[in-house]
Amino acid sequence: MKKVIQGLPKSYFNYPMPVAVVGIKREDTRNLIPLVWHVQLSFDPPLYGISISPKRFSHDLVMEAGEFSVNFLPFEKVELINKIGSLSGREVDKIKELGVEIEEATAIDGFVLKDAYAAFECELIEHTAFDGDHTFFVGLVVATHYETNFYDEKTIIKVDRVKPTLYIGKYRYLTVDPESLKDFGK
Ligand SMILES: Cc1cc2nc3c(=O)[nH]c(=O)nc-3n(C[C@H](O)[C@H](O)[C@H](O)COP(=O)(O)O)c2cc1C
Repeated sequence: MKKVIQGLPKSYFNYPMPVAVVGIKREDTRNLIPLVWHVQLSFDPPLYGISISPKRFSHDLVMEAGEFSVNFLPFEKVELINKIGSLSGREVDKIKELGVEIEEATAIDGFVLKDAYAAFECELIEHTAFDGDHTFFVGLVVATHYETNFYDEKTIIKVDRVKPTLYIGKYRYLTVDPESLKDFGK
């Protein structure tokens, strides 16, 4: 039986979503926040959007830093991702507390995660809240890091080599089944 309701309640109907861990550095403060509300907006110029609630410590940090990195961690790191998403940078230094290894970024005054199989360095170019309860930040991707062993020559992820991390809501995660792959590419 299908049901229709007015509007959209706080829900997870459109999940699973891939998880990105955003890294922000403002002066001596570094913080991490897992997000599922993120999306590429344009190839040329390369634009990447992230949506953050003003309740999060990371919200004002991104605004003030004007830069951020978007990191994709393998499923092996799911426990770490969940911890990062259960703590606030207001109370703890998550990088220190959780022993997260970082590397200096190359094109922004920030960092990327050592364990990320792909990461984007972004310069903040725009933000808007659309009168909603999250702010949508748009970044220009100025550098991309990726693990060459995990991508083919078309930059398609090799899911038999690396397991992406997906989220279905309420602190529940899963990954993809490589056996389910259907390749209709020429
Ligand atoms: C898998 C996952 C995805 C999340 N996605 C978002 C998101 O897209 N936007 C957001 O504002 N918060 C999201 N959150 C919540 C924040 O990650 C969480 O509140 C975090 O602890 C905030 O940290 P901060 O206060 O240090 O910024 C997500 C949490 C998890 C666990």
